[in-house]
Amino acid sequence: MKKQQVGQSMDRVDGRLKVTGGAKYFADHQLEDLLYAALVCSPISNGHIKSIDATKALRAPGVADVVSHLNAPPVPGYKQENKNPKQGLKIFNDDRIYSNGQPVAIVVANTLERAVHAASLVQVLYSQETHHTEMSNNMDKAFQNNGMKDYVRGEADAWKKAPVTLEAEYTMPIEVHNPMELAGIVAHWDTPDTLTLYAKTQGVKSVQQTLKELFQIPEQNITVHAPFVGGAFGMALRVWPLEVATILAAKKIRKPVKLVITREQMFTLVGYRPQATQKISIGATIDGKLTGITHEAVAITSPYEDFTEGIVGMSKFMYACPNVNTKYQLVPLNISTPVWMRGPGEATGAFALESAMDELAYKLHIDPLEFRIRNHADTDPEKNLPYSSKYLKEAYQMGAEKIGWFQRNPEPRAMKEDDMLVGYGMSSGAFGAYRGKATANAILKADGSLVLRSAAADIGPGTATAMVQIAADATGIDPAKITFLLGESAYPEAPRQGGSSTVSTVGSVVNDVCKTLQQKLGELAINHLPAFKNAKPEDIIYEDGQLLLTSDRSVKISYQEVLHQQSLPELLVTTTSQSGDERKKYSMYSFSVHFAKVHVHPATGVVSIKHVVSVADSGTIVNSKTAASQMIGGVVGGIGMALTEEAIMDHRFGRFVNNNYADYHVPVNADVPPTDVLFINKKDPYINPMGAKGMGEIALIGFAAAVSNAVFHATGKRIRDLPITPDKVM
Ligand code: MOS
Repeated sequence: MKKQQVGQSMDRVDGRLKVTGGAKYFADHQLEDLLYAALVCSPISNGHIKSIDATKALRAPGVADVVSHLNAPPVPGYKQENKNPKQGLKIFNDDRIYSNGQPVAIVVANTLERAVHAASLVQVLYSQETHHTEMSNNMDKAFQNNGMKDYVRGEADAWKKAPVTLEAEYTMPIEVHNPMELAGIVAHWDTPDTLTLYAKTQGVKSVQQTLKELFQIPEQNITVHAPFVGGAFGMALRVWPLEVATILAAKKIRKPVKLVITREQMFTLVGYRPQATQKISIGATIDGKLTGITHEAVAITSPYEDFTEGIVGMSKFMYACPNVNTKYQLVPLNISTPVWMRGPGEATGAFALESAMDELAYKLHIDPLEFRIRNHADTDPEKNLPYSSKYLKEAYQMGAEKIGWFQRNPEPRAMKEDDMLVGYGMSSGAFGAYRGKATANAILKADGSLVLRSAAADIGPGTATAMVQIAADATGIDPAKITFLLGESAYPEAPRQGGSSTVSTVGSVVNDVCKTLQQKLGELAINHLPAFKNAKPEDIIYEDGQLLLTSDRSVKISYQEVLHQQSLPELLVTTTSQSGDERKKYSMYSFSVHFAKVHVHPATGVVSIKHVVSVADSGTIVNSKTAASQMIGGVVGGIGMALTEEAIMDHRFGRFVNNNYADYHVPVNADVPPTDVLFINKKDPYINPMGAKGMGEIALIGFAAAVSNAVFHATGKRIRDLPITPDKVM
């Protein structure tokens, strides 16, 4: 038998293309007659457009047009009621301004520089109304929509009766995804109702669906190309107004138009992690058994959409606590709509819950790790189901040993190294392990190579590489002869790359379509090849790219020889697959445990992270190299969340003041310490054929709490307000 590929640390199949410039990202596409666009965005945060004077801009050299609500082609699918959660901001629909940075016009010219210059010449007059951008001043507007039901298990507010209690409030600022690749699109109407797009997206099919509804054209008339995406973290999970604006300009001008937005515009046009305040009230017995958790969260949204996420979710299921109640509300502000950002709401919620667990453990004089083990949920307390797999206790143990948890002095402010205060902190995280529906083609070529196609995405984790490994094991074909193609709307349906579900969903259908291919080869052999003539399908086994008879293993034929004997140039099969009933019988989650060791400078309060250990219980590891990179990426995001990331608004104007890479600090190499990533790497028997659960979100979920808990251990000071900047520590 050939070496098993799943579990190996195979190099990325597209790595060479990416590092040599051979990978073409959306902005790399130079179509014939391509025009360049720049946006004119609102400097006010609430009000109306009184007038737009484009005369000077239209006279500037090379300008093709200035498109706004005054002259944009109609969008037939715009629903005119106030709030339509799927449509977002209806760009160029009317004169209404909801937030600062909202695009009011798109200027198109024959060079980028000319478009940018002409955009500065567009004169817009506004009538301004009072804007509301400060969450703390607008809490009276908090509301729940129909989907935001309060949750009660057991008795509400039972924590109040506990002998040991904690009430604390935690705050999360606005964070911005800030992937290196900027957002934008290249749009071309090949005919008045046929559209071609080079996009930055986490799902080509979902772009196709959204635009089909907006422009009321058949989906086969919309072609979306996105084979390479330069990072997203959630910001490319939906179609944004900037994309619709470009498509409208291309429609009006009848030429291809490219828009790449600026770094500043990334703060206002493509979502963000919503600012949130959370109150956790929690109670336990003196021997450390949780008796009640109350988790109340309020987060911001835009005036025109209710964005909700799983912010209070983890409090419902993480611990074996008999009484839990949660409340989740939104405050609408004059700001654009938030969107999922890595870990999404669970990461926000985990900061509060996992900080509170640490605080209560210290009150109880119980080791924070021991406290979590005493409250470990052996079955899912929310769904009342057994877990499909759960190795959280093993993960706690592995991580604790690796970082030296048991060797620390648990007293706050008791450890020092080189005049630095030393702290150790830990936390846990969890995220649902999903599996959606997807379809794939497998095409066996006459030379024995295999091409697989599915409209999946790769925003960075290495999707195609994992799929090649899964297909190699399913077929026995050499991975060097397997290609996985993704990111094209012409390929069979696959969901967006989101919610840590790509390996589970797309990997399953890759496995299944390979099995379909083998069955088809078996049928061909039985029907047409003398040696297999009297065989039944179950008499044939598939090994190392060959068909063998179970009764006589010397009777064998390679896959390509089956094609050759039939004079078939290739063999194409298609399979759709999705999860079965297991999902109703088992609760499926991935779990993570994070440990951080910090140094805190006693005079300045500067925190530096010296060592990180992250352990993942995410089922089978398909590629140990890309999986470790994925986990380290989550840690890097977590360091940003813990220590530096915060979009700061000047509320007098409703504008961000640090909307650039220099002032909005994402961690750089020097901020990232030695990071040990450990995997449980045990197969989940129920989720999918590979036994792989998700990893993208748990890499980040909980991490910030491990840091803030470490800062408490180092200094004796609790920081409940992210990010943990020196002014808060001192
Ligand atoms: Mo992720 S926040 O599901 O892109």
